[in-house]
Amino acid sequence: VNRYRIALVGMGTVGRLHLAAARHVAQADVVALVDPVAPDLQALAAPLGARSYTDAATMLDAEAPDLVCILAPVARHAELVALCAARGVHVLCEKPLALHSAEAATMIHQCRAAGVRLFYGASYRFLPALQAACAIMRDGGIGQPLLMTESILCGSGPADRHKMAPGHYPAGTPGGYGWGLVDHGVHLIDAFAWLSGSAIVSAHGRGSLSGEQGGLEYAIAHHANGAVTQLTYDDGTYPACLPNEGIFSEGAGWDQAGNVDAGQWSAHPQDIRIHGTEGSLRIFHYANILFLRDRAGLRKLPVAGRAPNLHFASQLEAALHDLDDGGQRVPSGEDGRRALQVIDSIYRSMSTGRLEAVGSG
Ligand SMILES: NC(=O)c1ccc[n+]([C@@H]2O[C@H](COP(=O)([O-])OP(=O)(O)OC[C@H]3O[C@@H](n4cnc5c(N)ncnc54)[C@H](O)[C@@H]3O)[C@@H](O)[C@H]2O)c1
Repeated sequence: VNRYRIALVGMGTVGRLHLAAARHVAQADVVALVDPVAPDLQALAAPLGARSYTDAATMLDAEAPDLVCILAPVARHAELVALCAARGVHVLCEKPLALHSAEAATMIHQCRAAGVRLFYGASYRFLPALQAACAIMRDGGIGQPLLMTESILCGSGPADRHKMAPGHYPAGTPGGYGWGLVDHGVHLIDAFAWLSGSAIVSAHGRGSLSGEQGGLEYAIAHHANGAVTQLTYDDGTYPACLPNEGIFSEGAGWDQAGNVDAGQWSAHPQDIRIHGTEGSLRIFHYANILFLRDRAGLRKLPVAGRAPNLHFASQLEAALHDLDDGGQRVPSGEDGRRALQVIDSIYRSMSTGRLEAVGSG
């Protein structure tokens, strides 16, 4: 089994989760951390014997890593992928892959031309509860999938809506709101195509533009096999869940600050509902809890695997196995581009008022 020299570029919120996860991956040696401003970069790097850098090009030239994990804001993804491809370095890039699908296509082309892998960090595919749900669905356990839905409606009014820091999405482009379609829904757009085994072919909805007041965002998307995806997001309202109504009194939850707590009610736990002709699934993916209801009744199913946030370790490990044997355990740049094509079609539908075919714009 090969060992790989890994560099992490962008040491903010998710960079720190990747760093903690990498310690659990036997094949990974983290050799460098890059961030232009993180004040504690050296302190993060020192215990690993890694070096710290303030810019990616200097790091790439000095370290020649095998794989770079791009964990910087999406506005920086394209230029960072280009730097890696130019030096023949493999890339694992966080979601969203790019600001729009055309930019993603360029990134894919650059990596292909350079002969390097472009892994897309669709981390939801490594959440154990979703992997268990996927296995059930692929076995026909809920029959034909009809509807897959995520709804995050919470908060304490528009003033408290979670805005993205300015460096993430340029003003006037899709994004800018943390629980919106682009920054969050992009996870589900990918995951629902994966779970149902069927691509999204048309979509319509509404999303915000960065720099403007965010609002209720939604999408209705149609899969090739007839299943429907429905997403509704707004953290500028109030939750309608009642205290102790949910299952969080019995399990761990991921609160809105990103902390994992034991046995605490979360104002709006993230959950997914999937309805099929033979059954339904209720998935509390960050709490690692899965329910199946079918003719035999309702039951809670065991969920194996590394619980969040060590799903980032599973993702990195899978990428390194892919480098070992040329496999495709981690989604590719094409998956990232496809998710952005769906987003593009949703934004197009705002001006046409019609259902838009994915990939036609
Ligand atoms: N998979 C997930 O569950 C998940 C969760 C959160 C964020 N993300 C994604 O991760 C990425 C980063 O998000 P975040 O929430 O960690 O953002 P953040 O703002 O907390 O951190 C980003 C970091 O990148 C640094 N940075 C900016 N430009 C850089 C450059 N050119 N080179 C190196 N570093 C640079 C910033 O200084 C900052 O420290 C985004 O694409 C986001 O969508 C994914």
